[in-house]
Amino acid sequence: QTGLKTKRIGQEIEYVESCASTQIIAHQLAQEGAQDGTVVLTETQTAGRGRMARKWDSAAKKGVWMSIILRPAVAPQKAPQFTLVTAVAIVRAIEEVTKLQPKIKWPNDILLNGKKCTGILTELQSDADGIQALIIGIGLNVNQEKEDFDREVQDIATSLKMASGETVNRQKLVQSVLFYMELYTQMYIDEGFGMLKILWESYSTTIGQPVRARMTNQTLEGIAEGITEEGVLQLRTSDGKLHGIYSADIEMADS
Ligand code: BTN
Repeated sequence: QTGLKTKRIGQEIEYVESCASTQIIAHQLAQEGAQDGTVVLTETQTAGRGRMARKWDSAAKKGVWMSIILRPAVAPQKAPQFTLVTAVAIVRAIEEVTKLQPKIKWPNDILLNGKKCTGILTELQSDADGIQALIIGIGLNVNQEKEDFDREVQDIATSLKMASGETVNRQKLVQSVLFYMELYTQMYIDEGFGMLKILWESYSTTIGQPVRARMTNQTLEGIAEGITEEGVLQLRTSDGKLHGIYSADIEMADS
């Protein structure tokens, strides 16, 4: 009994007690033709991975570690927004299941009290015909205590339990995340990014703030003015120029 209220996402669920990374399994399943909406869920990962080749701490039975395979019929340039849509879905799910009010830091971090409680990693499987599958990895810190995190991240990571003082039912959270994923990815596919962009901006800590964007080759400081329909961050530097940021690490400029 999964208690799912969805029709697409989570109709197939691959549950494994432990694995290296749900992303690896999801890539494999997608390669073998897994259907749209297939979910890979685990209790613990020995090699959980984050963006920019970082490792993702995945304490056993304390979080939601999952990957969702989507096969949307959209152009490749519409893929990055799925990460933003996913962030909105997760915020809504956390709001539904807890009393917390999470914020989004562009592009894909979900914060509580300024610390990260969720990361999203979107990977593509594509060929000459276009996108074959999107693999959306979600790492949601649910019931960890501070000492459950690796020492290096203890000051920057948090969990729903640490922020609310209450143990959170992980099954309810998964149901809710999948429900909102189905709702919002469908909305994005059918209607485009417009409404979701407004929702995303309303949850964002980044917009309207002075930020520092660290990229591979340079660092830019300025005001984050908004995101475009393509999900690109618009950063205005003090010389008045508007820069489109596709990928970076963002921090508040006054910190
Ligand atoms: C980030 O913020 O760097 C993204 C973290 C994504 C972590 C999740 S946990 C489930 C899935 N499997 C992985 O190996 N990574 C993602």
